[in-house]
Amino acid sequence: MATALIVLAAGQGTRMNSDLPKVLHPLGGVPLVVHAMASGSAVSPEKTVVIAGHKAELVEPAVLAYDPDATIVRQTEQLGTGHAVLQAAGALDGFDGDAIVVFGDTPFVSPETIAKMAKARTDGSDIVMLGFQAADPGRYGRMVVRDGQFERIVEAKDASPEELAITLCNGGLVAADAATLFDLLKTIGNDNASGEYYLTDIIAAGRDRGLSASVVTCDEAETLGINTRAELARAEALFQTRKRAEALENGVTLIAPDTVFFAFDTVIGRDAVIEPNVVFGPDVTVESGATIRAFSHLEGCHVSRDAIVGPYARLRPGAELAEGAKVGNFVEVKNAMIHEGAKVNHLSYIGDASIGARSNIGAGTITCNYDGFMKHHTEIGEGAFIGSNTMLVAPVTVGNEAMTATGSVINKTVPDGALALARARQETKPGMARKLFEKLKAAKAKRDKGA
Ligand code: UD1
Ligand code: MG
Repeated sequence: MATALIVLAAGQGTRMNSDLPKVLHPLGGVPLVVHAMASGSAVSPEKTVVIAGHKAELVEPAVLAYDPDATIVRQTEQLGTGHAVLQAAGALDGFDGDAIVVFGDTPFVSPETIAKMAKARTDGSDIVMLGFQAADPGRYGRMVVRDGQFERIVEAKDASPEELAITLCNGGLVAADAATLFDLLKTIGNDNASGEYYLTDIIAAGRDRGLSASVVTCDEAETLGINTRAELARAEALFQTRKRAEALENGVTLIAPDTVFFAFDTVIGRDAVIEPNVVFGPDVTVESGATIRAFSHLEGCHVSRDAIVGPYARLRPGAELAEGAKVGNFVEVKNAMIHEGAKVNHLSYIGDASIGARSNIGAGTITCNYDGFMKHHTEIGEGAFIGSNTMLVAPVTVGNEAMTATGSVINKTVPDGALALARARQETKPGMARKLFEKLKAAKAKRDKGA
């Protein structure tokens, strides 16, 4: 059955106390809304509709960066979850299939749980909602099930004392035939304690029409919604715990797991070693057998087999390390290809560059890639030797098996096999240092006496 995913992301999230809309706060390096979209991808949606409202102009690019095919619909006034879902009706006009509704601020719903909801639909329930046994039901909607029949959901604000005692709570997600869902929503009013159009009212409305409803349950941890910074911090901790366990499970060595921070999409191969205090930003792949040494920071990069990074290295977007490449301490690499077995071992900046196989980049070498207006490329051939503290003024090319002398400022092509010396020649004056010391000593003594 074709499925459409509807993601609710219009709320402001007042309790975050932030200029940033709640769904854009990052968890594992990517916005909360991306987590919701990713869990929804379990049903391989044919269409994804994201309802944006508060600061929609910021939400839109974040959504499209993750899924360029997503449709964004604006809910100009946030009149409730039911009203929010109904905003998707236009975008899904004529869509023949199911709709699954997820909340943009609920990042942990597992793909398995969403698949279970889809299955309950195939098994014959007209409306499927996600529930959980709440340790502290608090503000959650209560699911009223009587004689095995799922009758309705009552929001905490509207509930009677008996209803408040119910511990089966609404996790918020819905699966139903899209056309049926919109039809039901059109019949719902806002005569309730919040004056909002409640998505949850579709259960009672559906029952009135003779439709069946059922509850799929999941662990409370999955439905954890983010409303405050404290909840966001707890969610991050939970996310990191899971990613660490997953890495260990996949055969990655983590010497001090609690000090390693992963992003949403970090991929690390078997037998890779990650030393303590390493941070992975988004979009990093580390292949089998690579070593990331302590205190390194990586984002948007790829580290091949048997490469070694750090300690204290920084790999920025576009850094690509081929097999056996080495990037050592206090080295920053950005948008640069370090080919097989090449080494950049100490205190360098390599940006917008290609370093040929087996080349050695001496300590303190800098690719001077920026002229204040534009970025320029540095090309270094294979088996080259770049002397320590070489400034490579881009655009510039150094050939295969070429050499630069230590301390050179290279701004012209160095052909294959050539040595380029670009520094002042040394002058040595015998005895001059001693004379200078005497002179300075005398000057200081004279000054101290006068004072
Ligand atoms: C909702 C449920 C409640 C459930 C709880 C689970 C309703 C009426 N209540 O309550 O039963 O236990 O989630 O967390 O559905 N949103 C919009 N537009 C709006 C209103 C909300 O896009 O007009 C979005 C929010 O950005 C958020 C999601 O919908 O991502 C949920 O809204 P929220 O206000 O948090 O609902 P709850 O009060 O938590
Ligand atoms: Mg909520």
